[in-house]
Amino acid sequence: MFLTIIIIVITCIFIGRFLKKKSSYSLPPGPTPLPFIGCLIQMLLNKPIVRWIHKLMDQLDTPILCIRIGPSTHVIAVSDPSIACEFLKKQDEVFISRPDVMSAYLVSDGYRTVAMSPNGEQWRMMKRVLSQEIASMPVHKWLQPKRDEEADQLLRWICNKIEKQDGGLINIRAMSQHFFTNLIRNITFGKRFFGQGTEDGWPGEEETEHVVAVFTILKHLYAFCITDYFPWLRWKTDFDGHEKIMRNAIRIVRKYQDPIVDERYQMWNNGDRKEKFDMLDVLITLENPKLTPEEIKAQLVELMIATIDNTSNAIEWTIGEMINNPRILKKALEELEDVVGCERLVEEQDIPKLNYIKACIKESFRLHPFAAFNPPHVSTMNTTVAGYFIPKGSHIILSRYGLGRNPNAWEDPLRFDPERHLLEEGKQVMLSDNDLRLISFSTGKRACPGKTLGTTMSTMMLARMVQGFDWEAPGNEQSIELVENYDDICLAKPLVAVAKPRLPRHMYPAY
Ligand code: HEM
Repeated sequence: MFLTIIIIVITCIFIGRFLKKKSSYSLPPGPTPLPFIGCLIQMLLNKPIVRWIHKLMDQLDTPILCIRIGPSTHVIAVSDPSIACEFLKKQDEVFISRPDVMSAYLVSDGYRTVAMSPNGEQWRMMKRVLSQEIASMPVHKWLQPKRDEEADQLLRWICNKIEKQDGGLINIRAMSQHFFTNLIRNITFGKRFFGQGTEDGWPGEEETEHVVAVFTILKHLYAFCITDYFPWLRWKTDFDGHEKIMRNAIRIVRKYQDPIVDERYQMWNNGDRKEKFDMLDVLITLENPKLTPEEIKAQLVELMIATIDNTSNAIEWTIGEMINNPRILKKALEELEDVVGCERLVEEQDIPKLNYIKACIKESFRLHPFAAFNPPHVSTMNTTVAGYFIPKGSHIILSRYGLGRNPNAWEDPLRFDPERHLLEEGKQVMLSDNDLRLISFSTGKRACPGKTLGTTMSTMMLARMVQGFDWEAPGNEQSIELVENYDDICLAKPLVAVAKPRLPRHMYPAY
């Protein structure tokens, strides 16, 4: 048996080499694929796959790598900003599509949504709706009172926690994930919670189940599932178990969200609702295009997953880095005192002037992105990039990890140094980087439409946390252990820190 496998593998390698020599294509460098299965075996033997891909790029010393998986899918990883710009700026139109993969198909309910739909009429329509009706400036301003409510709730909850329990010990990961989900639920559904919440105004078990399910979806989305590369096996087998996990997580998220959509439709239909109060009202009452309930429900799942991962992850790392670098925390505080003064709480109107705070978040996007790769872009035709042949249908994955740590793009790339993002006096720091030296909101036709909301939410949360409290490592520890998880690139242990109030009591919202 063993001998037979060895003979098959060696034969495949020889056939592969022969075919490669015959071909005039010059694909980017990468491991030699076997016929039919490509690099599937290496992929399965070298988990976690994201680490394997980066290791290969290092070993081959290449900023662009090609791994063939299955009979015909070329996965192209990129860690160089100028090559990334060739893909997403120079040839944006060619790389406008997304792959058809099991996870994206299930989350988007058969490609009804923006982020996961391949290029086509549905994607164009939903992107227009999202950009013009949901993420537009007027809607952003209209929904500010709901965001303000959440910013106050955050302070209230931390103060409560300090007074009543745990001596101010705060699980920053759980808190930031809940903060952003409360916020997005509030602006989407007009209510913070699905259930009753807890007595101190914080999410209850329903919300916790919802958030856990959202992060399970995020973890398994575009996660190199085997059937993605052997599409005829899809729905027939679930080798790696991803399908079952995905279906279950989506069921949980929709169990909470869909009934609210149904109920709201009913309210509009029977005249109980006449005025718009939140994003769901906007979507239901839209006339051109008129969306179906199925499209709205699927889009709302996508909205949840699009808004809470990058934001909460950036806050967690930034607070950790600040505790380990008191100088950075002090500078952020000085900026707040300078811009806001000592008489009032920081508000959204201050954001344009909070350049150091924004630079801290941007530095976390650079050094500690939530996901190692940008969602895949797919080439709609054969083309050449950086002198290499890129076949139609290739999955392009820009490495957020590799770009942000590229030593040719960044000096001392492993150092957390917000100052590198500060521009000349008077110029605002933007969280985006159109030159793709880091990926925050990306660029081109597939760029994130939630740039304003994402910037506002994360800046406000960090600003309120820094202004409202002193932050320290727990117990007698001098610093936080800032170590990445091996399986993904999040912080290995959820960040727990001690909060101490630093403002006079009357400045906090009543609690
Ligand atoms: C700090 C917060 C956020 C970050 C860092 C972020 C980042 C990203 C990134 C990297 C992409 C992929 C772009 C590409 O494929 O090249 C993306 C896409 C997307 N984001 Fe965001 N995002 C954030 C917040 C939001 C918010 C608040 C919304 C909701 C309004 C949103 C909605 C979307 C959508 C719909 C897409 C898909 C666009 C398309 O495929 O055409 N994002 N985002």
